[in-house]
Amino acid sequence: MSNGDAFDPWSAQFVAQPYPAYAKLRAETPVQWFEPSKQYLISRHEDVNALLRDRRLGRSYLHVASHEEMGRRGWPQYQQPFWTLNNNGMLDREPPDHTRLRRLVSQAFTPRRVEALRPVVERLADELVDAFVAQGGGDLIADVAEPLPVTVIAELLGVPEADRHPLRPWSAAICGMYELNPSRDTAEAAVRASEEFSDYLRALARRRQDDPRDDLVSALAAVEGLSEDELIGTCVLLLNAGHEATVNVTGNGWRALLQHPDQLALLRTNPDFLGTAIEELMRFDTPLQMFERWVLEDIEVRGVPIPRGAEVALLFGSANHDPAAFADPSKLDITRRDNPHISFGAGIHYCLGAPLARIELAASFGALLAKAPALRLVSDPVYKPGYVIRGLKSLEVSV
Ligand code: HEM
Repeated sequence: MSNGDAFDPWSAQFVAQPYPAYAKLRAETPVQWFEPSKQYLISRHEDVNALLRDRRLGRSYLHVASHEEMGRRGWPQYQQPFWTLNNNGMLDREPPDHTRLRRLVSQAFTPRRVEALRPVVERLADELVDAFVAQGGGDLIADVAEPLPVTVIAELLGVPEADRHPLRPWSAAICGMYELNPSRDTAEAAVRASEEFSDYLRALARRRQDDPRDDLVSALAAVEGLSEDELIGTCVLLLNAGHEATVNVTGNGWRALLQHPDQLALLRTNPDFLGTAIEELMRFDTPLQMFERWVLEDIEVRGVPIPRGAEVALLFGSANHDPAAFADPSKLDITRRDNPHISFGAGIHYCLGAPLARIELAASFGALLAKAPALRLVSDPVYKPGYVIRGLKSLEVSV
């Protein structure tokens, strides 16, 4: 058991309530070496925001140096299938490859294609919420929060309905690797999922190449300059990034609203606040608590020298609660207008799916607000053990 305000990402108590520990870090040691994960913790909004945009840092270093040159050991051979998949998506690439991949994917993932999904997403949210209300409530995560973004991203990519069942388990297994110091079991499960997921997508992409449809896999398969491994890495990234965080914003967000009945009542009587409410919920209980960067050249942050080859942990949840950036940050205020939250990141890796995520969140929150006017918590929600990708195990409610 950790003490209440210590940074301890492996403690359930900390995961449930990380914000007091962040406040202490921000005030006392805004740049702090953390021995258990061998990273510098960066907790202030100004610093997180600046480092995300600083080209002397990167999500990878392999574009400028080998593992040995960076003083790193690299990954064990048995993990190669996971890393091949991971390193072929745009998120873990840096320019010029990142620029090329992001441009190619943006050509297929156009604002038109995303906007055209709005009525589809709204209809799906209505159907899910209607069924949820008809059954008298239940687990909001399993019944509404998960199926919506998973179905949307699977539709967008063109994964047939009959094949969707393993998407969540594959994604969850792969995402285990994004937590701090993953165990051998976690790594092995991620490797298995990476192999199965890659095989599946390779076959699907080849089918779509021969027989294109109006979907993203076909569009990506038709794009010049994208290798097959990059296509697969991109699809897995879109499938994983395309739902994990959205599920957690829905769960964490509803938990926050249900625990702040005044704010929920205000939103019910003023649905025009839905837009600012969603941004506030993303800030208030940040779904992705931390992103890492490698230091590619010696830097100094608030007087602390950080050498090339080191890793920084950018604490998004802390940045989003920094009183230097937000008035009264521990207050949930669904009308907050001045809200420079960092939940979608910043700089060259800024979330490509932010417009789609906002459409999905507006649809599901909107449908639940309209159709479940007496939503109530029936048990205390518990967070899953993950710290980086932070969300609830379940959210049991009655309608
Ligand atoms: C509320 C939901 C979401 C949140 C909070 C979120 C958050 C983020 C963040 C913080 C990053 C940047 C990570 C970094 O800088 O290290 C990112 C990148 C990305 N996100 Fe999202 N995301 C969400 C939904 C989505 C959706 C729905 C999609 C796709 C359909 C998506 C696709 C991506 C992709 C492709 C990247 C990589 C961009 C790049 O490297 O240039 N995200 N997301």
